[in-house]
Amino acid sequence: MELPSACSHPGWSVLALVLGLLLWARRRRGWDPRKCPTDLTGKTVIVTGANSGIGKCVAMELARRNARTILACRSQERGQAAVEEIRAATGNPAVLLRLLDTGSLASVRAFAQTVLREEKRLDVLVNNAGLTGLPLAITPEGLEQTFATNYLGPFLLTNLLLDLLKASAPARIVNVSSFRHGVGTADVRYLTGQAQPGGYDPIYNSTKLMNVLFTAELAQRLQGTGVTANSVNPGVVSTRIMRHFSWAMRTLFLLIRPFIKSAEQGAVSTLYCAVSEEVSGITGKYFDSDCALALPSAAARDAGLARKLWEESERLTGLPAGPQH
Ligand SMILES: NC(=O)c1ccc[n+]([C@@H]2O[C@H](COP(=O)([O-])OP(=O)(O)OC[C@H]3O[C@@H](n4cnc5c(N)ncnc54)[C@H](OP(=O)(O)O)[C@@H]3O)[C@@H](O)[C@H]2O)c1
Repeated sequence: MELPSACSHPGWSVLALVLGLLLWARRRRGWDPRKCPTDLTGKTVIVTGANSGIGKCVAMELARRNARTILACRSQERGQAAVEEIRAATGNPAVLLRLLDTGSLASVRAFAQTVLREEKRLDVLVNNAGLTGLPLAITPEGLEQTFATNYLGPFLLTNLLLDLLKASAPARIVNVSSFRHGVGTADVRYLTGQAQPGGYDPIYNSTKLMNVLFTAELAQRLQGTGVTANSVNPGVVSTRIMRHFSWAMRTLFLLIRPFIKSAEQGAVSTLYCAVSEEVSGITGKYFDSDCALALPSAAARDAGLARKLWEESERLTGLPAGPQH
């Protein structure tokens, strides 16, 4: 049977191939959280951006494992709704909300102070909060808003909580990156908007590259402390992440929904790094959406770039310069 000419356009074959690959990737079997016996009774965890999507599913699973679970969210209303939902679903009363806007260094400092005052320990920190699709804009603190939210705020937060993590060792830091780091570029001038990356959705891609560079440098600096740091790619996941895009892009994302991961499936690689026995002691690595160790992009493996980014991030956040390694 002959196809109508519009249907024989080569674009359809490409689309079919892409959807087929997405479906195949979605069905590939990775680690199964239901088979992981790790119990977190007596442990404390923080998940940023835990009121929706991947972060909420990660927090739900950690709460189910009896962790004292701190949801670090920027909205009292959305955060409290997630707390109620997770408490009801897991029966864990030790699920709490603490306000955090990762895009504001002042908010990060206030949140960290609260944690250091209130918490005796911190076993897992999941830097999950992130966004994309916003235009370039400078915050009142002089930082580019997406870089501040996705990278610099989490950088400061992690550093402010390091002593508590070290005192609770073995402890884990998980930084949620993306496969899109592979098309990102990193230039310290991006952080303040003095230069901007090019390409499609370049700011986001660049922040996700910075997440991987940060993780590698952090892991180096944490050698011998019992605190590990790894970055993960959750895959292509059906969440609210596209909400700042045009209606056309949101419609496209809606159309591919049956072929991509649910938020629960998208949370698996992050959970794997946070709780699985197999990852115990592994640090400075990048895990793909099937929980397999993967090689990040060449830029993400550039140790000189990672060190330069770290030093500039210390300067911009006002952290004292750490020891060289
Ligand atoms: N979905 C994907 O396909 C995909 C793929 C690769 C990587 N990721 C990464 O996965 C992570 C989670 O994204 P998601 O897909 O679950 O999207 P999502 O449903 O939009 O969740 C993002 C979370 O981050 C929070 N957040 C955003 N800006 C924040 C800020 N300034 N301070 C505190 N919290 C903030 C959001 O809170 P509000 O409700 O207040 O906005 C929300 O809770 C992100 O780091 C993203 O880059 C996602």
